[in-house]
Amino acid sequence: MLSSIVQFILSAFWIILPAYFANSSPVYFTSRMKNLHPIDFNGKFLDGRPILGKGKTFEGTISGIAVGTVVGWVQVMLQKLGGLGVYFTYQMSLELAFALASAAIIGDMIGSFIKRRMGKKRGEESFLLDTLDFLVPSLLVVYLMVGMDVYTAAFLMVITPMVHRAANILAYKLGMKDVPW
Ligand code: CTP
Ligand code: MG
Repeated sequence: MLSSIVQFILSAFWIILPAYFANSSPVYFTSRMKNLHPIDFNGKFLDGRPILGKGKTFEGTISGIAVGTVVGWVQVMLQKLGGLGVYFTYQMSLELAFALASAAIIGDMIGSFIKRRMGKKRGEESFLLDTLDFLVPSLLVVYLMVGMDVYTAAFLMVITPMVHRAANILAYKLGMKDVPW
């Protein structure tokens, strides 16, 4: 019983890990770069507000997809060489990692698009959008590629905002982020 609960929780995090990394890594790369290129080319939407805003750049997008994919590759190695595969219900693959990282990054941009339409400034907090915009498309990708069950999806929908908030507060306290969200 206990071991099946542990396996359920570990499998859920295992299969979503590339999306978590794709979503959280761009800030660390872009904060060290001088010349950043906004992916919306500083364009304005019909409402006169930025399409996505300066928080979505080519540099951040590429680094997020790259980091998420590399994390997935490490997972594939751990499954194969480290024999870790037996502990997880779902197995990572390189294709899935790349699709997950891309879905997370695209979902995050859709979230920014919605935030701008709501009149929220770049970086302004929107708890559910900030924490779930990247997750929903990622879950869809897992569902389509490996057939995730509804309990795992529900668990991740509930736990991810908490993980997201906890990680950001930690990064803020460590001086890695300017705001705790
Ligand atoms: N980032 C990026 N490109 C992306 C995603 C993120 O360059 N595709 C970088 C930006 O420097 C951004 C930071 O990572 O400021 C944090 O990402 P996020 O919280 O998603 O952006 P916000 O600045 O909060 O902007 P928004 O309000 O649009 O979410
Ligand atoms: Mg943000």
